[in-house]
Amino acid sequence: MIVKLGKFKLKEDYRLEIISIYNLKGGVGKTTSTHSLAAALKELGKRVLVIDIDPQSSLTFMITDEKLKATTKDVLLELKNVEESITKGEQFDYIGSTLELTLSELELNNTYNKESILKNQIERSLIHENYDFCLIDCPPSMGIFTLNALTVSDSLIIPCQCELLSLEGLNVLFQALKVPTKKLNQKLKVKGILPTLLNTRAGISKDAYEMLIESYNDYKIYKPIRVNAKLGELGIDKRTIFEIDKKSNGAKDYMEVAKEILNG
Ligand SMILES: Nc1ncnc2c1ncn2[C@@H]1O[C@H](COP(=O)(O)OP(=O)(O)O)[C@@H](O)[C@H]1O
Ligand SMILES: [Mg+2]
Repeated sequence: MIVKLGKFKLKEDYRLEIISIYNLKGGVGKTTSTHSLAAALKELGKRVLVIDIDPQSSLTFMITDEKLKATTKDVLLELKNVEESITKGEQFDYIGSTLELTLSELELNNTYNKESILKNQIERSLIHENYDFCLIDCPPSMGIFTLNALTVSDSLIIPCQCELLSLEGLNVLFQALKVPTKKLNQKLKVKGILPTLLNTRAGISKDAYEMLIESYNDYKIYKPIRVNAKLGELGIDKRTIFEIDKKSNGAKDYMEVAKEILNG
């Protein structure tokens, strides 16, 4: 709803949007997309927080190699609150992770309301006032970390590699999502499917992209992200794709998607 305030227009429901970046498959561009969408949203003037909830910690590796004073593990084990766990970044703020997050899995599984810890922590925090977007990079599984991410999220973006095997995996993913959406978070929406790693020179990749559009036309399908070697450089010196080369296809493609996200 739009509220008119003098000559200004304010969106009444203007607030933090929490988006999980998730797919059951690994290597489909989840982490690259989380990093580059966060960077693109920042370029567009938004305040962005990213949370690395994958013990593989690839997102954290892309951002920093410094030892962090607090990580996602501290948030999930309720050793620290959200504010204490945020590291201020040059481009966007983040709650980083380390492989040690794996060790908390057993402990979490014996905790009351184990899927809602992140949600409860975020509800107690000020991040609703301090950020416009929170992107959560999920592991490729439906375990306790992903369930925490899905329980707190408004929506999810599903990166899907433009290859036939990944398309098949989407069916399983939508089945797997039924339980968490019914039991843990009924407001969770699929914001869209993000076609990734499109190889415009390979017929089979373009075919997979066409099939994705045909088979999942009930969903929003974002403009595709092409294969781009510059995206493979993320992590080397901790720069975003816009700092590496803002004219690269990787930067252009993620900027297009970020604009689509802002336009709803
Ligand atoms: N559009 C792209 N072009 C080139 N390489 C990419 C692209 N997207 C991802 N990659 C590379 O593919 C690999 C897997 O990507 P990643 O984002 O880590 O996937 P996931 O988080 O789903 O496991 C990484 O080596 C990454 O650098
Ligand atoms: Mg990843």
